[in-house]
Amino acid sequence: MKEELKELISGLRANLSYLRDLGVRDLWIEKQEQTVPEIKSSEEAKVFKPSISLSSQEKQAERNERLANIIEKLRPSKLNIGNLDSSEKKPVLLFDTITPAENQDNLEKIRADIGDCHRCPLYKHRTQIVHSKGNPNAKLMFIGEAPGADEDIRGEPFVGRAGQLLTKIIEAIELKREEVFIGNINRCRPPGNRQPTPEEAKVCREFIIREIFVIRPVCIVTLGSTACQYLLNTKVSITKIRGQFQDFQGIKVMPTFHPAYLLRDPSKKRDVWEDMKKVRDYLKSFQ
Ligand code: URA
Repeated sequence: MKEELKELISGLRANLSYLRDLGVRDLWIEKQEQTVPEIKSSEEAKVFKPSISLSSQEKQAERNERLANIIEKLRPSKLNIGNLDSSEKKPVLLFDTITPAENQDNLEKIRADIGDCHRCPLYKHRTQIVHSKGNPNAKLMFIGEAPGADEDIRGEPFVGRAGQLLTKIIEAIELKREEVFIGNINRCRPPGNRQPTPEEAKVCREFIIREIFVIRPVCIVTLGSTACQYLLNTKVSITKIRGQFQDFQGIKVMPTFHPAYLLRDPSKKRDVWEDMKKVRDYLKSFQ
């Protein structure tokens, strides 16, 4: 049974990876209602056990059939592809047609496209644009809200007090800051460190999303409520989804608290540690 399960899982993995290469980013498989009959007597129990032992050929045929059923469920025509736009409740087809091989985008091109950006009013107050920074082959990506005063001056994301705490969080899961990729939804500092408006976020978010698709990390950690809501296009509060893996175009997303919040309320560090252990374990499962 264990071997069968292993084989099924490995087949499933291969097919998922194939679908991902085809450009499928999200899979929703309709849950089939299954009523499991309650087994009342030992007589009934026999019904749910094979009464004859199957030959290995028959077992193989049975396995193949089960695998074929799973593959059938995963056929693109049976899937919703893309992220759910919470307001419209229908798939938003962002990148479903771009396979990794077809993606001609790169980090330099994204920078060039951003240029001396005047797309939203935040440019008026900035010292400089704060671009994302880190390993272009990172397995793990962190996304914050927008630069603060220190970042605005130094031109690097997460370099102030919150950033120093972020470095410690990264090191707590045995990674180095240089190994991950760090960015923000908005690249210009909002005056007085206010939250970026939905319009400002909408304009700038495009660039971090393009970076996600160039880097293709295994996992993204969103820091704080704003980053999570603007990336996932949801209004769900951070306290509701914190610590639970979400999905962004086929990439696991872990929403956790912002390090600036941890500086104000250190008792929340424990929660973030729990979230980061899940991220560490998920990354390990990919090694
Ligand atoms: N807070 C953020 O969300 N991003 C930064 O880069 C710094 C502080």
